[in-house]
Amino acid sequence: MALREWLLWALPSADPGAWIVLLGVLLLSWLALRPLRLLRGPDEVGYAGEAGCSRAEAARRARRSRRLGQLPPVYPNGWFRLLDSAQLARGEVRNVAALGEQFAVFRNSDGKVCVVDAYCPHLGANLGIGGQVVGSCIECPFHGWQFDGESGKCVRIPYAEKVPEFAKIKVWPSCEVSDMVLVWYHCDGIDPTWRVPDREEFLPRPCPFRGLTEHFVNVHIEEIPENGADTAHLSFLHRHAFLSGADLRYMHSPFWTFFRHHWQADWHPDLEPNAHCSRLQLKHNITLFGKHFSFMDLRVSAWQVGPSLVFLVLRFPLLGQGIIVQSVTPVQPLMQQVIHRIYFQKNVPVFIAKMILRAECSQFERDVMIWNHKQYLSKPLLVKEDGAIQRHRRWFSQFYGEKSPKITSQKESLDW
Ligand code: FES
Ligand SMILES: [Fe+2]
Repeated sequence: MALREWLLWALPSADPGAWIVLLGVLLLSWLALRPLRLLRGPDEVGYAGEAGCSRAEAARRARRSRRLGQLPPVYPNGWFRLLDSAQLARGEVRNVAALGEQFAVFRNSDGKVCVVDAYCPHLGANLGIGGQVVGSCIECPFHGWQFDGESGKCVRIPYAEKVPEFAKIKVWPSCEVSDMVLVWYHCDGIDPTWRVPDREEFLPRPCPFRGLTEHFVNVHIEEIPENGADTAHLSFLHRHAFLSGADLRYMHSPFWTFFRHHWQADWHPDLEPNAHCSRLQLKHNITLFGKHFSFMDLRVSAWQVGPSLVFLVLRFPLLGQGIIVQSVTPVQPLMQQVIHRIYFQKNVPVFIAKMILRAECSQFERDVMIWNHKQYLSKPLLVKEDGAIQRHRRWFSQFYGEKSPKITSQKESLDW
């Protein structure tokens, strides 16, 4: 029975008004239940556009006039997100530019993800643009050479009698964790020295996906995790009600002073064998008109795993538990793609998880506005209470090697 007949049968009145109400209810439930997707472009957040000057123009001016400071290397060693698993169907190929590399990412006919250099060693065509999956191989769109996604060996040249032994493409170590496709990047080309845990290892309970946010931030990658060790900024930048918005010029609005966030934080690095991890314990309370409402208390345990991934376990006394997975990928030396994915306890209404992600997003965007304009200070002027920042810099330095790529001039950083 067609849907229309079924509805006609189910709606005896067949009154057009009833149809409109029914469709409205269906639409609203779909909107309420579907995961949130907040995708912000590179100029959209963290720039002070105003009358006569668009955000894009403000972004261009800020980038051009910015003093960068003495930056650490721009691409640390570790695991980085390239794509969401859902963006790569079986047999699909994608080109991803990140970490100063061009990757061709594909899912072979067995469903396994492979990551290879995008440029074909024959004549340099980009395998991620028009390449085809053939069994376990990727086939170049230019002359049809086929490369195995696991060994990198060329297994077929359609017009040649023999495939030379040395015909190979570079294969990058990759894995799929928590719905993300990750690549292992190391300046010395060595194999992975640690693994990325799945989110269930931090929060072992069924938590469906409830939404994601995407931002592009003009900052050195190290400044983003350093924010976790900079505990003093929480009680200043993030004390204003998240509802007062992310624009630093307006968040002091007197209208919202009745609503305050209060934070207590403690950051420390982990010991061997997890020295590539660090942990931030956060206590967050809200006061309304100076009165504390304990049902809104939040405890966060944030595990930083390597230079680019964070698992934030959220625990509310009444609203339940969930986890936010944050990934930071340098798509250019000073342009980080930051994705937050939220998973929340099954029996909690979807809109609550979406609201939590929106609140987190609003606080994150305040950091973005700071990051987009700040200078990196290699010798910051710190007080005793800022001690965790120095400890974080020592901890993060393990992800750099002698050969880690650096940028040395303003021009190089502005090439994007
Ligand atoms: S460039 Fe790839 S097969 Fe020729
Ligand atoms: Fe922050």
